[in-house]
Amino acid sequence: MVAVKFHRCLIDRRCYDEMTVNTFSNTMPRHRTSLIALVLLAALPINAACQRERESLISRLPLPPKFFYQNRLSIELFREADRLARQEPLSAERIGRLGMTYHAYRFTDEARQSYELARNIAPNEYRWIYYQAFLEKSVFDFRKAESLFQRALEFKSDSAEVLAELGDLYLKWNRPDDAATHFTKALTIEPLQPLAALGQARLALITERWDEALTLLVPILDTHPRLSLCHKYLARAYVNLGLTDKAEQHLSLSDYGSGIETPLMGELHELSVDPIVNGGKPEGALDLMQIKCTRCHTSTRIEVTHQDRYWWAQTVRRMQREAGWAWLSDEQASNIVAYLADREASPVSP
Ligand code: HEC
Repeated sequence: MVAVKFHRCLIDRRCYDEMTVNTFSNTMPRHRTSLIALVLLAALPINAACQRERESLISRLPLPPKFFYQNRLSIELFREADRLARQEPLSAERIGRLGMTYHAYRFTDEARQSYELARNIAPNEYRWIYYQAFLEKSVFDFRKAESLFQRALEFKSDSAEVLAELGDLYLKWNRPDDAATHFTKALTIEPLQPLAALGQARLALITERWDEALTLLVPILDTHPRLSLCHKYLARAYVNLGLTDKAEQHLSLSDYGSGIETPLMGELHELSVDPIVNGGKPEGALDLMQIKCTRCHTSTRIEVTHQDRYWWAQTVRRMQREAGWAWLSDEQASNIVAYLADREASPVSP
């Protein structure tokens, strides 16, 4: 295995070296030119090996999937990322980027295939390990996600964020002791790490340590005042402590507020936002929302929230990631964005 990797590195290296040879200017003295010609001749077998390596990599790139629910702008995004990767298949950056694009739209298999290729080419690049860990976690392949998060920790052993993700993974995996160990480590490094605090509080609630849950949760609201889960857990702690007023207040905020997103995941999700910001048609969107947007929460918050198109596009994308593109296509999403952002311009008379 090691030998294979080494061999590949060598070939990659030669491919890159050769690219620099090709950029030599043709104004140099003749004897040097013939020397270069000799070198190039010697490089021919390497060139062939290099070409084979490129072709092999290209053949391992994911085939573009059928796009049923994506609009023209989204499809263009995929075409461009795919084109760039095929153009330079030795570039882990381009292949990883293709993986991010698939990942942002929940094309799990294609994203995984791209990340694995990118990791093969650049085994020490943190991002492809990190993103694939999130991907595997989202499809509940806990074992694979665990090993990838642990690998990520080999690069950043003091990342409170990764420790919290791993703790959260163990919590979902029903391994509370491992979860507690990782949350504790994360909170030692970053006392207000929101995911670790939420997880640790969840463990406290399970074992009926209500006050401990409050101590963990209350400070989190300073930085994340609308975090839905935090309100939900607070309500549970207060109700058990007999403080019903407080419990109700938090319960009313727990229906929906916001989630937590790490900066790297934020960067990935941003990739999908632009295609639904403009071009939507607001006609009929209200009816559509009444069917689509009342599945997980009421529409009260939607009605009272006034934001611009970009904010709505980000929010609707988040809902799509929750419920899937089959539930809401890009076209429907952009229509809803257009409706919600432009409401004020033409308010419905009471
Ligand atoms: C699959 C469940 C689900 C569906 C369907 C859903 N939402 Fe949400 N929504 C959530 C969750 C969970 C939250 C809280 C966490 C978050 O904001 O990501 C939320 C929060 C929100 C928020 C508050 C965001 C904030 O930051 O204040 C708005 C606004 C919203 N949804 C709008 C919509 C709209 C519009 C639709 C229909 C296109 C929709 N939701 C459909 C699950 C859903």
